[in-house]
Amino acid sequence: MNILFYCDGDAGTLQSSFRRALEVPAFAHALIDGHKDSLSVDPSTITAAIVWLPPDDFFDKLENLTHVFALAAGVDQLLEHPGLPTSVSVVRLQDAGMAEQIAEYVLYGVIRAQRNFHEYDVAQKQNQWLHGLPVKRKTDIHIGMLGAGTLGSVAAKTLADNGYQVTCWSRTPKTLAKSVHSVSGAHALPAFLGRCDVLVCLLPLTPDTHGILDTSLFKQLPRNAFVINCARGAHLVDVDLLNAIDEGHLSGAMLDVFHHEPLAQNHPFWGHPRILVTPHEAARSLADESLEQILHSIRQLDLGQTPNAAVNRSQGY
Ligand code: NAP
Ligand code: GLV
Repeated sequence: MNILFYCDGDAGTLQSSFRRALEVPAFAHALIDGHKDSLSVDPSTITAAIVWLPPDDFFDKLENLTHVFALAAGVDQLLEHPGLPTSVSVVRLQDAGMAEQIAEYVLYGVIRAQRNFHEYDVAQKQNQWLHGLPVKRKTDIHIGMLGAGTLGSVAAKTLADNGYQVTCWSRTPKTLAKSVHSVSGAHALPAFLGRCDVLVCLLPLTPDTHGILDTSLFKQLPRNAFVINCARGAHLVDVDLLNAIDEGHLSGAMLDVFHHEPLAQNHPFWGHPRILVTPHEAARSLADESLEQILHSIRQLDLGQTPNAAVNRSQGY
């Protein structure tokens, strides 16, 4: 099979690794450079593509394309690509080194909220020696995880292993680590939210989850709850978060993802004393792990199997 490769931001290193791994007798797949203006082969011979942020005309003329491997865990941008035919199967990254990093990010945010470090940040900006805030035991802190998939389940277990009380909310019922509670379905959401001292979003971005972090959701959280969004910017209604914090209902937020990235210079999140902004760095897919995962998916396809990491396109994740 001829596989077209396009990874925005790759200076050639990842592409070379894929070429070395695929152009061997065990695979005998040719990797075609998709960054060039004109392809080195007849486009009709290309049956698969490995991509990150391909340009709008990328899929034009690929009439025999059957599979696209996303170099990402979240495939919302790829599924919204104007040129991606509906017949093409999409395979994503699962973990690829990101689960541990996301768990560390979330743990950091939870510790900020539990130990009042976000309050000390605000006080420091006012040269204020803030002393005597109530001690919060981690066993008394309830964390709510929106999403219990590859990343959410690992982050949830890490928090529970650290002594926090953790409940995950997912679409379908889950059996998770013994120390993690699990609830599912829209009917379970209000009671779940009512207990969250910290709410973490690790949902995929789909029509059902778009804008889920809005005023109506924030109102269901206890007063002083803290929000961590490391899924996608479009899960959050920015102005609703600002209002909920400025009205004193939420104590703050840690945000890694935004509607438009990079976040605009004049966006109010940058300077807000109760919002910590990180530049979509909660987790990065690691090259070796990504390569191995995609090779595994290609092996499964070569054997006529459906890759484990196949995306359900009608579900959106
Ligand atoms: P995943 O394995 O597909 O898990 C998604 C979870 O969300 C599943 O538990 C799923 O429920 C649940 N879910 C989906 N729709 C739902 C709904 N309508 N109601 C309730 N639960 C719903 O995804 P993942 O690999 O953990 O990744 C999650 C997201 O993290 C990605 O989509 C991406 O946006 C984001 N991400 C961010 C970074 C970063 O650096 N900030 C890095 C990687 C990924 P079921 O289990 O019942 O299907
Ligand atoms: C990063 O955000 C990813 O979805 O892999």
